[in-house]
Amino acid sequence: MPRKNQPLKPGEKILFTVAGAFVVFAIIAYIIMQVVISNSDKPLFEVKTTANLSAEGQQGSYLFRTNGCTTCHRALRNGTNMGQTADLDGIGSRRTMQWMFAFLQDPEKNYPSKTIDHAPGERSAAYVARMPKQELHAIAVFLSELKSEQGSSSAPIPPKGDSPFIDSMVKTWAPKEWKEKYRDVRDDPEAFKRANEAAAQEMTQP
Ligand code: HEC
Repeated sequence: MPRKNQPLKPGEKILFTVAGAFVVFAIIAYIIMQVVISNSDKPLFEVKTTANLSAEGQQGSYLFRTNGCTTCHRALRNGTNMGQTADLDGIGSRRTMQWMFAFLQDPEKNYPSKTIDHAPGERSAAYVARMPKQELHAIAVFLSELKSEQGSSSAPIPPKGDSPFIDSMVKTWAPKEWKEKYRDVRDDPEAFKRANEAAAQEMTQP
């Protein structure tokens, strides 16, 4: 028969006290974090993508939301987030309007590799290529107006400023010749512009 009110062994007491202290600590830390967040006027995550929509871009944004694109893609921080390809915020800094217009009409011919969902036939995004040309044009304009700033994950080059960790790793591990061979893009004000142009160029070539 089980005895009631069996006293805890010293080991158990210590174990429960430590576990309890962790729980209490986690709750207090969570409360502090919430208070800090709600009293701070800085956003928790800095937004590094921007969108200045023209009239046609606005129309494209509407078409984008009403034609099922958001079931696979994300733009203006709406829709799904399945990965880099699916997230179209900032795409206007990597691809040109012409490229996107061409891709939407004929994905197989204009995509750098074989397409999965946009391929013609029975694929789930095959309908996109069959949409009216002028609607696809508006969508391409909309997408080309989604820009990313330097430092965004969708930007071609890393954030400005120092990273002590990366700097010390480079100092320790990078061969000397690299210093002469490569320039630090963070010290090069034109690098972001060049990287964007190079990316756009590459994408318009077949
Ligand atoms: C069923 C999922 C799905 C739907 C719906 C869909 N897409 Fe896509 N999209 C993809 C996938 C996956 C890719 C990568 C290419 C591929 O494999 O087809 C892609 C690629 C793209 C790209 C090229 C991105 C890049 O830079 O590589 C654009 C632009 C795009 N889609 C726009 C649209 C628009 C606009 C719509 C709606 C009219 C749409 N997509 C609907 C899945 C989808």
